Amino acid sequence: MVNTKFSFIGFIILFTIFAVSCTNRVKTSDKEEFVEKLLSEMTLEEKVGQMNLIPYEGSNPEELRERIEKGEVGAILKSNGVAQNNAIQKIAVESSRLKIPIMFQEDVIHGYKTISPTPLAESCSWDLDLIRQSASIAAKEAAASGIHLTYAPMVDISIDPRWGRILEAGGEDPYLGSLIAAARVNGFQGTNLADTNTVMACVKHFAGYGASLAGRDYNIINFSERELVETYLPPFKAAIDAGVGSVMCAYTAVNCIPATANKHLLTDVLKNQLGFKGLLMTDWNTIPNLVKIGVAPNDTVAAKMALDAGVEMDMTSEVFIKLLPEMVRKGLVEEKVVDKAVRKVLNAKYDLGLFQDPFAYFSLEREKNTLLCKQNLAETKQIALESMVLLKNIQNTLPLNSNIRKLAVIGPFAKAKKDLMGWWWCKGMPEDVTSVYDGISQTISPKTELLYAKGCDIDSFRIAGREKISEAVSIAQNADAVVVVLGEEYWMSGEGGGKASLHLPSAQEELLAELKKTGKPIITVLITGRPYVLTDVVKNSDAVLQAWMPGTTGGEAVADILFGKFNPCGKLTVTFPYHEGQVPIYYNYRLTSHDFNGKDRYITKHLDIPNEPLFPFGFGLSYNHYEYGDIILSKTTMSSQDSIIASIKITNSGYFEGTEVVQLYLRDNVCSITRPVKELKAFNRVSLTPGESKTVDFKISPDMLSFIGGDLKPTIEPGDFTLFIGESSSSNEQIEFTFLNQ
Ligand code: GLC
Repeated sequence: MVNTKFSFIGFIILFTIFAVSCTNRVKTSDKEEFVEKLLSEMTLEEKVGQMNLIPYEGSNPEELRERIEKGEVGAILKSNGVAQNNAIQKIAVESSRLKIPIMFQEDVIHGYKTISPTPLAESCSWDLDLIRQSASIAAKEAAASGIHLTYAPMVDISIDPRWGRILEAGGEDPYLGSLIAAARVNGFQGTNLADTNTVMACVKHFAGYGASLAGRDYNIINFSERELVETYLPPFKAAIDAGVGSVMCAYTAVNCIPATANKHLLTDVLKNQLGFKGLLMTDWNTIPNLVKIGVAPNDTVAAKMALDAGVEMDMTSEVFIKLLPEMVRKGLVEEKVVDKAVRKVLNAKYDLGLFQDPFAYFSLEREKNTLLCKQNLAETKQIALESMVLLKNIQNTLPLNSNIRKLAVIGPFAKAKKDLMGWWWCKGMPEDVTSVYDGISQTISPKTELLYAKGCDIDSFRIAGREKISEAVSIAQNADAVVVVLGEEYWMSGEGGGKASLHLPSAQEELLAELKKTGKPIITVLITGRPYVLTDVVKNSDAVLQAWMPGTTGGEAVADILFGKFNPCGKLTVTFPYHEGQVPIYYNYRLTSHDFNGKDRYITKHLDIPNEPLFPFGFGLSYNHYEYGDIILSKTTMSSQDSIIASIKITNSGYFEGTEVVQLYLRDNVCSITRPVKELKAFNRVSLTPGESKTVDFKISPDMLSFIGGDLKPTIEPGDFTLFIGESSSSNEQIEFTFLNQ
């Protein structure tokens, strides 16, 4: 009896050990040991297969099956949906020799099915937690649809509204752009990449793509190493410090060396200086592009340049899979360099939990319950509300009374749906979008008579439907107020969406001018991805709301603002030009040897237009007026060992509760290099009820005074600084303090 008992216990113990080891296929304790062991089992072809990222679109199912079975596919982009990705994963995990799971990647830029406002719009909320939350919603829906990695956040600083992709990043300021980059990485990735509510982020496009000359996409860039370090790298550093799992290199070049082949940029700067340890991939076909650009005579040399520069995954060109094995066998590249790249791919898959459970992201139930769920829509609407910017509101035209007798809604974008999602609509569907007209009709009282006219057509960039203007004017004459919804179509910005003209397409400005003549209150709502030159639009409107491309819930958000259910609080994160000829125009410009204004001819000014923008960085109105008190400093000198507290009292002298983004800028009055006239260094979103006052404190620490010195390293120089606190970058409430020493 005793023997039997012991043998039974022994069996239980052994079985438990066996069961535990089976469930944890992977020694979760040691990623490196797992990856090294797997790498040691891989053939050269299987290794290079992991570096191969192919597009799903256009692939032949049988051919795809074969390639996956042969271990030629490490990742697939633009394949989504649980059913489809589950079926593909089964091939990899059941039929390939080493059963290495596929990583699925997608452009979930600002939403998967529930589309949030474009990143430029979201940045105008200055609400970092909501921006993080918005990315988290996108991640939940992407992950629920079988996606493991998203090609976001895009963090390319741009000061040129002609560039179509200006809508994709967080505005013109490197400091704010850096905070937003980190917030979005945290939103996408959460705290655990293996969590099936998160996806790996891919910060892009490294680096300086936003400087494409003349706003023509993919154009050459021409910035100094200083501008790279001061302007374009900070958001990438912030994303890397936030733990971003991957980086995508840019189409463009730095110092005339294309990013894909730029070892200084990809290895010295990205990996060694910024400390990036994750997966580095190309953009679409950028390896063979090296031949087109003329820096490589053929794909073989291009492949070697890319690999030597530090590239680890080849997006869509298949140059690596076609050529690298042979190149290794011929001794053109060393296998250990390939191994280094493959390790990054396997590490990423390990971090995503794909080896523990290759099917963890594939739940039909979760997919059904997550996409477009009420909570996602509600949270997305909040970011849409906070992203919109009130640019004009004379005689309190807004908010409108929802009991208004007759309201005309006019314009080619009044009933637009797809255009509200923008270029990166991912899996968003127009039928799920609330148009501005829909939003208004759901908000007004049943007694209100709602009138509609299109006013003109949008037919590419031609003047179209001008004959519709007269009908719109007669409708407007019948109404008590007129909401005019103007803008650009979704394809008129975004990738490849550079525009020379910054005037609204077709006859929209003419339509508005005619409507203005009716003498009715004119409220103009703008649905645009980029900033336009709104000088005439503003002149012909009593109120102007920059709604951007506000996403699935955009029409509801516009209506809530128009009828006072939400007090607008957005602030511009990109300068709106007064005239196209001012572009590029931005707030943190540097002083020159000549004056900026004055009667003299010999000044830094165009003869025919002012230097000032139409609306500056940081500008945005609300239904309140916020009064700013004097700036009080805790002291007027500081050293590198201490700090100064700057305080200011803000009072809401309006009738609505609201949120004001109080902004703090610094100027280094005298410095060994020319410095911007001011730079954003801090901000504070302050919510105030009518009549309420709050004192806002800012801590001025030495790091806020540092700049990139002549040696391109951070430094601080003693001297006087001017501190500005106000409601935008053009505020002049200022005070001085002195930094005494290092
Ligand atoms: C595009 C874009 C990049 C995008 C990628 C995959 O060309 O430059 O931002 O993520 O290809 O679609």
